[in-house]
This record gives sequence, structure tokens and C-alpha cells, in this order.
Amino acid sequence: MKILITGGAGYIGSHVAKHILKETDFNLTIIDNLSTGFIETIETLKTIRAFEFVNLDLSDWNDLKKLFETHEFNAVIHFAASLIVPESVENPLKYYLNNTSNGTYLIKCCIDHNVNYFIFSSTAAVYGEPKLTTNDKIKETHPTNPINPYGQSKLFIEKILKDTAKAHNGFKYVALRYFNVAGADKGGLIGQSTKNATHLIKVAAQTALGKRDKMYIFGDDYPTPDGTCIRDYIDVDDLALAHIKALKYIPKNESGVFNCGYGKGFSVKEVIQTMKEVSGNDFEVEITDRRKGDPAILVADNTKIVNSMGWSPKYNNLKLICKTALEWERKIK
Ligand SMILES: NC(=O)c1ccc[n+]([C@@H]2O[C@H](COP(=O)([O-])OP(=O)(O)OC[C@H]3O[C@@H](n4cnc5c(N)ncnc54)[C@H](O)[C@@H]3O)[C@@H](O)[C@H]2O)c1
Repeated sequence: MKILITGGAGYIGSHVAKHILKETDFNLTIIDNLSTGFIETIETLKTIRAFEFVNLDLSDWNDLKKLFETHEFNAVIHFAASLIVPESVENPLKYYLNNTSNGTYLIKCCIDHNVNYFIFSSTAAVYGEPKLTTNDKIKETHPTNPINPYGQSKLFIEKILKDTAKAHNGFKYVALRYFNVAGADKGGLIGQSTKNATHLIKVAAQTALGKRDKMYIFGDDYPTPDGTCIRDYIDVDDLALAHIKALKYIPKNESGVFNCGYGKGFSVKEVIQTMKEVSGNDFEVEITDRRKGDPAILVADNTKIVNSMGWSPKYNNLKLICKTALEWERKIK
């Protein structure tokens, strides 16, 4: 199988590339414009085994077309995107151009060159602020109603994939709706190097190591047991393994959308407490105002991916997730 990964120099794409390189004999090409990804990550991945890296911006449609003319891919795994929610509110066109327009052209390249399998990085942000009672988990059938351009730009691609699969016999897709992704490679090979990250576990790791003076909790008056928001934190390697499952699932099954989470939530306070325990550092935390658009609870119902793909998480352990995130954070500047 010949696979194209877009955005493979980034956090999640590099973990998927690592599993492909280590655990399969698939031929791999990665494209990335290194806007938020790192050439060092590509160099590290090359120590596992050889693959092709092309420094290509998805907005260079001619170059993208040429890539498809000169390669025979069987599947595309599409990670490349812009993903900072507040930035998407300030600069929506950046998100619609990079995520929706470039993503659409990538799908067109697949159709034009008979690349039949497409795996797409979607997000729980497509659900917006779900209407649930406190203990409900979100199913894929829950209405989608993104509350920011980032979520909307991703939902558009889900819809475009659905229409394209309906119109083009043979073309199939899997859209994976990630919940909160965290952690790093268990051997310290790769991790999340993202600059100015807002992800809770990364921020907590940075604070534990003194890279930040303190960290903030945005609201402690939510209708949850300790008043802080509850999220479903999925280990990046378990998420990567869901992509490997999807690659095997897609040829023999219908297209579809799948939640990726553990179905168990932790509050912001629980995550911070775990990071304090794992790091041995009782760092400063300040309670501040709620942020706009933060639902109280976001927990995935993962029954669909577990039952249909046989995905079985290996690293469902918040302490381990915090520990690997902390170890990676220690390693990078
Ligand atoms: N990190 C999360 O918690 C999370 C949650 C839900 C969904 N996602 C989705 O997962 C995917 C990967 O996210 P990540 O956390 O690894 O982010 P990341 O920023 O680390 O990776 C994105 C990669 O895409 C590349 N890229 C961006 N625009 C490009 C373009 N026009 N041309 C070529 N390369 C381009 C970047 O250089 C980077 O290497 C994204 O699509 C994101 O929307 C992430």
C-alpha cells in the first residue's frame, strides 16, 4: 500500500507516521509546509526507516497536482490544517482557505487520480456545544453545530467527503473526530512541540517545568462535580493506532464518521492535580473567567469505533499521558 500523509511533520501526523514506519511495510510519502511542523521530526522519523518527504504547501495546487501525477497513492491521511480556535474567529478566511479549500482540492486530486481511500482528521469541535444531560456521552449521531470557524471548516470537509463518496463509486472515507489529544511517544522519540499551544496537558507540563510562571483555570462554576470543565483525553499513540485500524477497515467497509476518545472524562482540576503528582511540583494555578464557547462536558461515546474497527486502547491512563507529555516537554527547549 502507498500512503500519502499531509501534515506529517506535526504532532498527530508524526505519531501516525511512526506507527506506519514501525509496524507496516507500507510505502510512505509525507508532505508538509513546516508552518507548525518541524523538520527535526521528519529527521527523527527517518531513523525508523526511509520514506519520502516533500516540503509542499497544500495551497500550491499545481505542485499538489504534480505530486499525484508522479505517484500512485492508494490512501491519503489528511492532517494538515490550521487549528487555533481563537485565531479562526479573528481570521476565518485563513481557516476556510487552508482547511476547507485546500482540503477540497486534495480530495479532487484523489478523485482525478483514482486514490480511493481518504482518512480525515476531524474534531469534536464539529459538535459545538452539545445538548446533553450531565452524564451523556456524545454519539456520532448527535447534531453537528460548530460554534467557531475552525469547527465549521472541518465539518465542511466531512460534508464534501460524503457528497464525493456518493457521487464517485469506489471512493471511500473515514472521518475521525478527535477529542482532546495528549501525551507523547513512550520512548521519548517524538511529542508535541507546537509553539504557543493552548492544550491543557501541555500547558500544565510547561508550568510544572517552570516554563510558565503559573497557569489558569478558565471558570470553576460549571455544573460539574468540582466546577471545572470535563474533557476526554486520548493518548496520541492510541489515536495513531485508530488510523492504522481505519486503513485496514476502509477497503472492506462503508465510509463513516467515528469518535476518537476513551468515553471517560477528567476535570481541569483533576488533570492539573495529576500533573502535580507526576512532576512532584505544586505549581501555581489561578482561577479566572470562563472562556466563550467552552461546553461544561465533552466526552466521546466510542462504541462505534470499538465495535466496528476493533480499536482497543492501550494507554488509557491519565498519569501515563501526563508523564509522557512532561518527559517530552523536558526534552524540548
Ligand atoms: N491536537 C488536537 O488536540 C486535535 C484535536 C482535534 C483535531 N485535530 C486535528 O488533527 C490534525 C493535526 O493536528 P496537530 O495537533 O498534529 O497539529 P500540528 O499543527 O502539529 O500539525 C499540522 C501540520 O500540518 C502542517 N500544515 C498546515 N497547513 C499546511 C499546508 N497548507 N500545507 C502543508 N502542510 C500544512 C503543519 O506544518 C503541521 O506540521 C489537524 O487537522 C487538527 O485539526 C487536532
